Amino acid sequence: MKRILVTGGAGYIGAVLCEMLIERGYDVRVIDRLYWGEGPLAKLRENVEVIRGDVRDMPDSLLDGIDGVVHMAGLSNDPTAEYNPSANWQMNTVATKTLAEACKRHGVQRLTFGSSCSIYDGLPTGTIYDETTDVRPRGAYATSKKAGEEELMALADDTFQPVILRQGTVYGYSPRMRYDLVVNTFVKDAISKGRLSLHGGGWMFRPLVDVTDVARAHIHCLEASIENVGGQIFNLMHDNYQIRELAMLVSGSAQMRKFHVELSEAPMPAIARDYKCSGDKLRQMGGFQPQVSVLESIETMLKQIESDGTVDFHHPRYYNIAWMTLLEEAHANLEGFPSVF
Ligand SMILES: NC(=O)c1ccc[n+]([C@@H]2O[C@H](COP(=O)([O-])OP(=O)(O)OC[C@H]3O[C@@H](n4cnc5c(N)ncnc54)[C@H](O)[C@@H]3O)[C@@H](O)[C@H]2O)c1
Repeated sequence: MKRILVTGGAGYIGAVLCEMLIERGYDVRVIDRLYWGEGPLAKLRENVEVIRGDVRDMPDSLLDGIDGVVHMAGLSNDPTAEYNPSANWQMNTVATKTLAEACKRHGVQRLTFGSSCSIYDGLPTGTIYDETTDVRPRGAYATSKKAGEEELMALADDTFQPVILRQGTVYGYSPRMRYDLVVNTFVKDAISKGRLSLHGGGWMFRPLVDVTDVARAHIHCLEASIENVGGQIFNLMHDNYQIRELAMLVSGSAQMRKFHVELSEAPMPAIARDYKCSGDKLRQMGGFQPQVSVLESIETMLKQIESDGTVDFHHPRYYNIAWMTLLEEAHANLEGFPSVF
């Protein structure tokens, strides 16, 4: 395997993945709408071929010479999917199917898909869910990811072996930073507000994983033998963590760097995600072990933010829904400004 196409390669996970692929000697082609510009790939400009384009409308020629695909493009959280459920369905489900069909036509056997553990949301709490669980996703985002998985599995055969990675909520530093993910939000709040709010006391559980482990897992699944990973669904997570525990880990780490941080309880939100998953299948059958704990990742983030200098944490670009709403307003009000959807 030599040439990899990364859809959504200029995003939060994609930017970290592209750098890792280059380090491992791959040639990398990216197709991305570039919602956040090319900045996240600036460091790799000489080494990555970047094509501004939409996965809903991808020419087959982008698969010329490609040996494997990592499919990350699409709306990547609940609020953006709810903002435009129809575009979300087209991007996360329909485009996943058409990309898989194009791979089959081009003899690209391996595609890894950035699915989500949020498809376990809404099941009764108190149980640890695995890949055999009969999931009943609630929202537009999780429903579209589940349907995308089903499209891939329906197309799987000897010539096409998708690998589905149900990623836990991701934490960690990326050149395309997101502060709308729980651990990253706490790090930002610890530094910028000195206060972390624990909604409903923060007793809810979530499976979480570091962004570098996500990148490593996709590369592992591109390289692993077909018997171990081909046509399989794997949960990808470091561990299940309680939100309250995350707040304590962040506040302790920030305090060691002389930030004063208070923790306070806040009312329970209308929808609280609370579920636990098992990552055993990927460890045992897939042969991949996530390495980076939340604590280690918090430390890396704090160091990196410090070395970046002043960060405008309130800039909408760090929050997907805020950024897309802003771009959509520009589309409505400025002639010629394209829609993000
Ligand atoms: N970050 C997480 O916690 C998490 C957890 C589980 C699953 N995922 C999934 O992993 C993938 C990557 O997530 P992320 O956090 O890097 O998100 P992100 O929003 O930072 O990146 C998505 C990238 O895809 C691009 N994109 C969006 N729609 C596109 C389209 N129609 N055509 C081409 N490019 C498009 C965007 O410009 C962006 O660069 C997503 O599919 C997301 O659903 C993310």
